[in-house]
Amino acid sequence: MTTSSFATKKAIITGAASGIGYATAKLFIEKGFVVGLIDADKNRLESISKEFKQDGYDCYYRSVDVTDEINLKKAIDELTESLEGLDVFFSNAGINGTWAPIETLTISDWDQTINTNLRSTFLCTKFAIPHMKENGGSIIITSSINGTRIFNNFGASAYSSSKAGQVAFTKMAALELARYNIRVNAICPGAIDTAINGKTKYSADLDEVEIKVEFPEGNRPLKHETGTSEQVAQSVLFLATDASANISGTELYVDGAESLL
Ligand code: NAI
Repeated sequence: MTTSSFATKKAIITGAASGIGYATAKLFIEKGFVVGLIDADKNRLESISKEFKQDGYDCYYRSVDVTDEINLKKAIDELTESLEGLDVFFSNAGINGTWAPIETLTISDWDQTINTNLRSTFLCTKFAIPHMKENGGSIIITSSINGTRIFNNFGASAYSSSKAGQVAFTKMAALELARYNIRVNAICPGAIDTAINGKTKYSADLDEVEIKVEFPEGNRPLKHETGTSEQVAQSVLFLATDASANISGTELYVDGAESLL
């Protein structure tokens, strides 16, 4: 049961159990992709897989921490085998981590954010290349407006650095992998209504470094609404298909012009 307009592309999505990753998995399968889901949340993966199968779609998954290179590689290799190939890799898993002044942010909190967001993007790309280099493909990386266009979320130095690093990595990888016809692009969402903010740890001394920023009335210029995961998923779909065949090494902002204020 597919409404296929992009027949049987094979895609792996990380962070697929929630928010942007889940919305993208849903959209991909509705468009005729076969998907392999990676996330640390095993229970959610199980229920998503049941949900997709009940709707008549194939779905493979592996519960893996994207900072664990041994199990991540194994998961990518096994999922590629189940999918019988790999055309699209969506490196999306990420955390806000701990937001704290640089002076008191712990080194392990810094490492956790950088490893979860940036190091995992390197690992996913590295492990996807052998599966994609023969036939080409599309790698999409979830960055953010933080660290690329806005710098006013005080305490988010690790998060913003990880997101800036992902864009630099996107450009380096786009050039390096063009020879294999592998395109690499980043999406930079603005505020999107997902579970991520509820998981952010704010340190008690954060107000010591905050500079109060007053936005002009309506800090979401387009429609005055927070964005949705489904809107981001539509942009990921565009970057995953031949509709974006000549686009590589660029970032696509999905933020209703929020980051231009
Ligand atoms: P979410 O919290 O709803 O989903 C993130 C998923 O990643 C969760 O299912 C979580 O279990 C998984 N995950 C986290 N750490 C993991 C790890 N070490 N290994 C495996 N899985 C892990 O968050 P959301 O909002 O969907 O975030 C997805 C991406 O979008 C992140 O990279 C985030 O930085 C980025 N983003 C989100 C924005 C927002 O406002 N929600 C704005 C800009 C970027």
